[in-house]
Amino acid sequence: MTTQHVDLASLTSRRPTLTGSEIVNHLVPPRQFRSATVDSYRPDTGYPSQAAAVEAVREFARGWLPSSGGFFSRRKAPQAKPGIYLDGGFGVGKTHLLAAVWHLAPGRKYFGTFIEYTALVGALGYAQTVALLKGASLLCIDEFELDDPGDTRLMSRLLTELTASGTRIAATSNTPPNALGDGRFAAQDFLREIDALAAQFAVIRIDGLDYRRRDVEGHAVSLDGAALEESVAGIEGDVTVDSFDAINRHLALVHPSRYAKLIDGLAAVAILDATEFTNQTDALRFVAFVDRLYDAQVRVLASGLPLDSVFAEDMLSGGYRKKYLRAISRLIALTNAQ
Ligand SMILES: Nc1ncnc2c1ncn2[C@@H]1O[C@H](COP(=O)(O)OP(=O)(O)OP(=O)(O)O)[C@@H](O)[C@H]1O
Ligand SMILES: [Mg+2]
Repeated sequence: MTTQHVDLASLTSRRPTLTGSEIVNHLVPPRQFRSATVDSYRPDTGYPSQAAAVEAVREFARGWLPSSGGFFSRRKAPQAKPGIYLDGGFGVGKTHLLAAVWHLAPGRKYFGTFIEYTALVGALGYAQTVALLKGASLLCIDEFELDDPGDTRLMSRLLTELTASGTRIAATSNTPPNALGDGRFAAQDFLREIDALAAQFAVIRIDGLDYRRRDVEGHAVSLDGAALEESVAGIEGDVTVDSFDAINRHLALVHPSRYAKLIDGLAAVAILDATEFTNQTDALRFVAFVDRLYDAQVRVLASGLPLDSVFAEDMLSGGYRKKYLRAISRLIALTNAQ
């Protein structure tokens, strides 16, 4: 038997930096959604809101069609809101439909997560960000999760300015816009800000089952030492191997907007000796990391506590429940990937 040489690279030795122009270049749908279209979305007939969402997305995209100038086509236009907001549970295909909208938009358009847009403002400054995004036909914002009043204000200002100059907005979230921040911040001005944001969007609710789990086992895969080594050796492409603790310590040193670059080019990430999180800050960083692994479809090979069990009970019943449940759904998919 020949022993294959395996270069055991470590995630913790990667220290990505990110410039404004790198963030901008990344403002396109993630790899797995590059070919997501309205036609490739298969509505679950058990949940009529899915077919309705597809129709709403098509209708939204008709807004870019040149107006025929007829009386009827003009009559509807003034009421249309500049944005659509796809709200629903995890895995119902919100990001898929968001990418589908992006593909239908003409001209210059952007697709990013909420955190990428805030990182862009951080890197370029507000005025330069507006100057850059202005004139786009569409801004897609995945995972609208406004936990932070400062970010909310920033995004509200940015979107108001962009929509006033004709840019349309499509967003997704696991939370309807008027419930964002629920149970986390009670400050009145924050709630007002959320109302102002919500007023820009037509909310489309999508119900349904987690599509990713329709055909995978219900648990994240945990491998024993030998099986993990074997899996690492069998991966074609770059793999990193680190302990769960080391990864979490490293994630604290890297800004979440750089997590995508942290895992750039990797075929798989091995996470050894997972244990339950004891602190929410670490757990939420890990969630953001899982989001980027999922976007890039990087396989996860893990040992220790199955990764769908690392979030403690009190976390799962708190204000960030949906984030954790989504991460669990994604971890099940990533550890089951072939
Ligand atoms: N109805 C559907 N038809 C075809 N593919 C689907 C459908 N729903 C989801 N998918 C696929 O399932 C995967 C998960 O969907 P997606 O990531 O869009 O869900 P989501 O609602 O954005 O979930 P999350 O809340 O985790 O962000 C994607 O690969 C997507 O293309
Ligand atoms: Mg999504």
